[in-house]
Amino acid sequence: MSKTIIVSNRLPVKIERNQAGEFEYKTSEGGLATGLGSVYKEGDNIWVGWPGLAVNKTEDKEEICSRLKESNMSPVFLTKNEIEEYYEGFSNETLWPNFHYFNQYAVYSDVFWNTYKKVNKKFAKKLEEIIEDGDKIWIHDYQLLVLPAMIRETHPNSSIGFFLHIPFPSYESFRLLPWRTDLLTGMLGADFIGFHTYDYVRHFLSSVNRLVGITDNDGHMNVGNRLAMADAIPMGIDYNRYAQAAADPETLASEVKYRISLGDVKLILSIDRLDYSKGIPQRLRAFEQFIEENEEFREEVSLLILVVPSRDQVPMYANLKKEIELLVGSINGKFGTINWRPIHYFYRSYPLHSLSAFYRMSHVALVTPLRDGMNLVCKEFVASKLDKKGVLILSETAGSAKELSDAILINPNDTNQMVEAMKEALKMPEEEQIARMETMQKSLKRYDINAWVKLFMKGLEQVKEEQENLRTK
Ligand code: G6P
Repeated sequence: MSKTIIVSNRLPVKIERNQAGEFEYKTSEGGLATGLGSVYKEGDNIWVGWPGLAVNKTEDKEEICSRLKESNMSPVFLTKNEIEEYYEGFSNETLWPNFHYFNQYAVYSDVFWNTYKKVNKKFAKKLEEIIEDGDKIWIHDYQLLVLPAMIRETHPNSSIGFFLHIPFPSYESFRLLPWRTDLLTGMLGADFIGFHTYDYVRHFLSSVNRLVGITDNDGHMNVGNRLAMADAIPMGIDYNRYAQAAADPETLASEVKYRISLGDVKLILSIDRLDYSKGIPQRLRAFEQFIEENEEFREEVSLLILVVPSRDQVPMYANLKKEIELLVGSINGKFGTINWRPIHYFYRSYPLHSLSAFYRMSHVALVTPLRDGMNLVCKEFVASKLDKKGVLILSETAGSAKELSDAILINPNDTNQMVEAMKEALKMPEEEQIARMETMQKSLKRYDINAWVKLFMKGLEQVKEEQENLRTK
């Protein structure tokens, strides 16, 4: 029986060592982990990835391996040095800023690049132990761009899919990377290459054309003697999970508790991982301008801002945290009163029922990243609005803006426009809120995570069929 092998940098569980030195297994709450849950848990399917910590002792590795095996996962262990140079370094200090158009933050280091290749090879070696004829291998994201070609080399006929969860930048940004051609040929090892939007597909094909010299025909490319295909498959959320959580008694109990503490202010909600691509300081400044210019909203509206800890060993992220905290402090100090706190700020992650309560309670979701491959928070907000009341303000530079045109779309660099959008959202008549929310809910329900998995797998199967037809012609 053939199986599907999911490969990503992070496994859907995160292992942490507690104070007693024992391992604690936590579920990663990300969209990918929940979304692909139905895939890797079936039959012989398996998920290969890093468990999120450095492990040195053989007995610790064995313990983790056997525990993960019970839930169809297989770990790739990274050393401290690999975490620094492959994960924090090349992945998050080189590729991440370049792909999000923050080239001023990009570090160009051959040492990082060599470790990146070495770790991708480590993943390839691990896969060699697992791959059998007929298996499908589905690789995820920018941390593993050169893995598809490595597998292709040892398994020339295998079915390899690749999905990029972040933007693929325009050629003008991508060309700045000294390793640009190797990165593309790495990706081209896959048969089917998926992106969130058509713009990302276009950017990718244009770089392939200019740097590798392959021209495409409607996304079809001839890579050596093999046909490969690039297409847009926007990732959805587990819609029912969020809709059900919003009706769960535990969520409702949390909502009552939070409401009592917050009083009856209207809430504007903001939830992100700590990341400069999310435009958090810009959003805080826009909120400051909003309450500065619109006295009638003071004591009536608060911003609830949740920042989920992420990559805080990378200097740019640590600096950003300080900047956010200074801004929150200064805005609250300037405008707050005994009765009213303009901004409620929390730096931590929250369980689903708390998030769901926040989504339910908030009048507005302010999702204004400077760049975002997709952004799932805005989709979760929409799915949680069972009464259809509430307004989404969404950045046009998030991949999700392509699908959610019924949100109030803004340019995240235009502070005045963000301020106007907040006013519009808070004053929007209920019928309009409901009409917009209904349209968005319909499309998110239809293109949910299960539809995304199906479409991707169908795309991969189609390429393999087309390859077969060409061979037998
Ligand atoms: C983004 C990336 C993912 C990554 C996630 C969390 O969504 O596309 O690949 O797993 O951020 O970041 P982390 O560095 O903590 O894995």
